Amino acid sequence: MSTRRPFVGGNWKMNLDRARAAELADALAERFTAPAGDVAVYPAFVHLADVADRLKASPVKVGAQDFYVGQEGAFTGEVCLSQLADVGVSHVLVGHSERRHVLGESDTLCNDKVLAGLDAGMHVTLCIGETLEQRESGKTDAVNTGQLGYGLAGVSAAQMAEVTVAYEPVWAIGTGKTATPEDAQKAHNVIRQAIAFLFDQTVADAVRIQYGGSMKPGNAGELLAQPDIDGGLIGGAALKPDDFAAIVSATG
Ligand code: PGA
Repeated sequence: MSTRRPFVGGNWKMNLDRARAAELADALAERFTAPAGDVAVYPAFVHLADVADRLKASPVKVGAQDFYVGQEGAFTGEVCLSQLADVGVSHVLVGHSERRHVLGESDTLCNDKVLAGLDAGMHVTLCIGETLEQRESGKTDAVNTGQLGYGLAGVSAAQMAEVTVAYEPVWAIGTGKTATPEDAQKAHNVIRQAIAFLFDQTVADAVRIQYGGSMKPGNAGELLAQPDIDGGLIGGAALKPDDFAAIVSATG
């Protein structure tokens, strides 16, 4: 762990009903009075307003898993950034692999979302990561640096203060398979070097890079001990308050 302030996100994905989302939010409010770093949770859209209300007095920030880049208007089924801000959302995810691979989001759309999110004053987490096939054919670094470069096109060095990168190898998400700390560190280091190339060393040294993919209390310590791993983006374990709290404690 570096001197960068750790940042752990809980991606609740399409999970929980209203009562369980409320219960989880309350449990987090109780546990996180002074966390070791930044903490944010990303509930489903329908639970955002209630979760944000419950976490209003808490240091835990509330984020959206997605959004549409347009302003309020005729976009059936979509949710815009001003609507999210209005219910207490300050953070957004962009380019999660489930959106890239299940919903077909392109690098261009991810870039539009990064720029729109930053323009709207959100803290943006850009998710990148390779599939198993890409890893096995030696393309891990090329995929990560490609998604990074496309995703961050047009972002200024100053705006990078509100950007986090989440490295999430697709084959490790929700599978119970985790990258070894060494493999994860190698990928994070390449991503940091790519950020230095795209911006400068100061930006690269400051940006937080989260690891995501089956991070849990049992493996968080060794992953977070790596010099370029600054936190985690947690899926399954974020639904269990004790596990999520244990991961956040492992950053301290
Ligand atoms: P997981 O999900 O922790 O369940 O693997 C991580 C993510 O998709 O953000």
